[in-house]
Amino acid sequence: MSASYDNLNGQNHASYADNRYGDSGYITPAGRKKRTSNWIKFGIPVLLVVIIAVAVGVVVGSRKKSSSPAASAAASAASASAAASSAASAKLAIGRFATATNSEFLMPIYPSTTDSAIFSSPTFFASSDSKTSWPTDSFKPSNPDVLTVRPDRPRLIAPAYKWAALPALIANDPYLKGWNASIFRNATEYKAKPPVVYFMDGPSGILDNAREIKQRIKAFAYAYRMSNDSSWVDRTWEELQNAAGKGPTSFGPDEDKWNSAHFLDTAEFSAAFGIAYDWLYDLWTPDQKSQIMSTLLTYGLRPGVTQVTTSAGWWRNNITGNWNCVCNSGLTMGALAILNDDTSGVAEQLLKTTVGNARDNCAQSVSNDGTWAETANYWYFGTTGHAEMAASLLTATGSHYGLLDDNSNFFKTGDFHMYITGATSLFNYGDHGPNKFSTTANSMIFYADFYNQPQYALFQRDQFDAAEPWSMFWYNPTIGGAFWEGKPLDHFFDNSLDQWASMRSSWTDNNALYVAMKAGMNKNHQTHNDLDVGDFVLDALGTRWAGELGSADYRAPTYFSSGLQDADRWKWYRKMTEGQNTILVNQANQNVDAAPTVKHDTSNTTQGPTTVIQVDKDSTAFFTMDMTSAYFDITSVKRGVRLLNGRKQVLIQDEITASKGVQWRMHTNATIAADGTSATLTLDGQTMKVTILNAPSGAAFSQSAAKRFDTDPTPPTADQENPGVSVLIISLPAGTYNLQVLFNPQWPGDVTYVTPPSVALDQWTLRSHDSSS
Ligand SMILES: *[C@@H]1O[C@H](CO)[C@@H](O)[C@H](O)[C@H]1NC(C)=O
Ligand SMILES: *[C@@H]1O[C@H](CO)[C@@H](O)[C@H](O)[C@H]1NC(C)=O
Ligand SMILES: *[C@@H]1O[C@H](CO)[C@@H](O)[C@H](O)[C@H]1NC(C)=O
Ligand SMILES: *[C@@H]1O[C@H](CO)[C@@H](O)[C@H](O)[C@H]1NC(C)=O
Ligand SMILES: *[C@@H]1O[C@H](CO)[C@@H](O)[C@H](O)[C@H]1NC(C)=O
Ligand SMILES: *[C@@H]1O[C@H](CO)[C@@H](O)[C@H](O)[C@H]1NC(C)=O
Repeated sequence: MSASYDNLNGQNHASYADNRYGDSGYITPAGRKKRTSNWIKFGIPVLLVVIIAVAVGVVVGSRKKSSSPAASAAASAASASAAASSAASAKLAIGRFATATNSEFLMPIYPSTTDSAIFSSPTFFASSDSKTSWPTDSFKPSNPDVLTVRPDRPRLIAPAYKWAALPALIANDPYLKGWNASIFRNATEYKAKPPVVYFMDGPSGILDNAREIKQRIKAFAYAYRMSNDSSWVDRTWEELQNAAGKGPTSFGPDEDKWNSAHFLDTAEFSAAFGIAYDWLYDLWTPDQKSQIMSTLLTYGLRPGVTQVTTSAGWWRNNITGNWNCVCNSGLTMGALAILNDDTSGVAEQLLKTTVGNARDNCAQSVSNDGTWAETANYWYFGTTGHAEMAASLLTATGSHYGLLDDNSNFFKTGDFHMYITGATSLFNYGDHGPNKFSTTANSMIFYADFYNQPQYALFQRDQFDAAEPWSMFWYNPTIGGAFWEGKPLDHFFDNSLDQWASMRSSWTDNNALYVAMKAGMNKNHQTHNDLDVGDFVLDALGTRWAGELGSADYRAPTYFSSGLQDADRWKWYRKMTEGQNTILVNQANQNVDAAPTVKHDTSNTTQGPTTVIQVDKDSTAFFTMDMTSAYFDITSVKRGVRLLNGRKQVLIQDEITASKGVQWRMHTNATIAADGTSATLTLDGQTMKVTILNAPSGAAFSQSAAKRFDTDPTPPTADQENPGVSVLIISLPAGTYNLQVLFNPQWPGDVTYVTPPSVALDQWTLRSHDSSS
């Protein structure tokens, strides 16, 4: 077996899904009876919480507004506190909303209920009760400055007053209680392992090492502060010594242990050492403190100075993506941790430049529609860096210096994440990125509080990756309600860079129908995209029917080097147009200069308070695009997708005039039985029927393995295997076609399926398909 990071560390990190599995202890083991949610057993407690709070005048709708003097006067201190404590006991009695995590896709499972009295709208309640809400921070500088830090420790993310308040909050909040237990369980698991073993993973460097160490340090330091058990401090020291090259096994070359050539690695180590230094500040001996600081300066922050003062720091120049966020954030956290103890001036020098640079670049990674301009997966890395940096600056110095609001649309990125999360998994187009380790979607919890968007935290708190130290401090326990209450089922993101559609039949049913399709530009996604205008995913019946293949070879030297038409990147199957769920013309890649136009509409259907949603038959949405600019050898190509029959069926229509051969392609894990103009797909014990309506002469389904044509140019390194993936294909010679492909998931029960009329894409409206038979 060849050496690999996984072998060295005695675990399988082969895929993100594997490594996430079981992490929070929140997975229902197969075969075990699902527990009934208390909110079903108890009937109406969530509403009750609201009513009590309203009755005593403590609800102000938005906690950023202050309640009227009359209302305040009406609520006596005594009754407010009584209300708060009954709210707390109701919250505890209800428990977490999701009762389990789906074992295949790791999505939360919400019990079914049609009781509309149960859930209220997402809200932060006003409360000043110390058992149910955070105290206010007494550190409030009138002129915040990056070089002026709070007087006490910790500075980063979790100030002392929050640690002091946390035990009572944990005792009164089911989410905090569960996360605290998970973090301890995880910390205990890490403690039993040897320190992370150094492994240089080609051009991906030691990023996995760095992120895993950061994850451990956070967990160990948290466990110490919540238990006062000094064995956690000893174990932290062991991990730090190892990453400083003073452990039992060697840790990289002496002159550059943290691999500054791949600066993400250096930045994540700097963050990890900063957290250790700061969170356990009073526990370190003067000698330990000086050793941690010296390692941080030598391998992290001084190389950081080289980055910010020379061209080595390419990620500083107009890189509106995760690199800019992660690098600036790691340097900032490291520098804030040692500021004033550091006599070299390095921390100061860095802080004078990282903050403005992140505001001008990292914070601009979100388009004006909320889309993270790289990919749905890179959103995790980028927003983790952004949220850690903003939160650290806020707690350490009292301001975020525009990181959170210089881009006035940044707050919409929470919606991007919610809508790109399908019934089974993300609409994961483009590159998926490396292992996530210390990266989660918990920036949602921070953004919820800062932007007063409670639904972001309500959505994230039931996810498998919610349990980690950051969540403990970012979560505002005065939150109430259900994220799905009033949430539109559809959303269109139509910035010209992104252009994508998200449509679903429910927010809370793992078996829901979800279809997402993108147009957008093939350029300007930090070289993480595919040539994939028209690409889509489709979920129904608890599984994914049309899916993505993910990243190709990150270790290949030219994988990221160019996005031009002749770039090597576009030679790997997973990046080529033929590896996408879209139209292929002449077996050739799309034009990198594509600039599609889109149209869309929706019935604006929202989910109500219940987890069972009955949509009426008129509830629909559609998204059409002119993707002519994405192709060569064509006169015109248009594509559209719409929901039919009360969101039970999907139609995908393509209108094509091409002077070369055309293929309609869709990648699936299903077993395909193709029979002329229809195909039966089976997967996970479920069935999907696919039919070509009004089939043009010669149009029929065929299938192939998910691999390149023999005539394709050879990529610099081999393609990845796509085991179990087949391509459903309609292959046609040059010509003019209207291809209408109807997807009928075989829902349980007595479902009547419709056959839609043939309507030209330009004529599509919400009601254009009502005459379905
Ligand atoms: C908990 O531990 C598991 C297994 O080591 C890991 O995959 C997961 O990411 C950890 N979760 C957190 C939040 O640290
Ligand atoms: C946090 O979890 C640990 C381990 O389960 C437990 O010992 C501790 O009491 C918990 N803390 C609080 C405040 O409940
Ligand atoms: C740990 O020590 C601090 C400071 O002495 C104290 O306030 C806190 O209650 C202790 N926590 C535990 C879990 O013993
Ligand atoms: C970054 O973009 C700005 C505005 O487009 C431009 O003025 C500046 O020169 C760019 N900087 C670099 C280093 O490319
Ligand atoms: C096949 O299933 C795996 C595991 O769920 C998933 O990651 C992948 O995207 C699926 N592939 C397709 C083409 O649907
Ligand atoms: C949906 O909402 C949008 C924005 O408020 C509105 O313009 C449109 O008319 C609504 N459509 C329907 C069918 O209600």
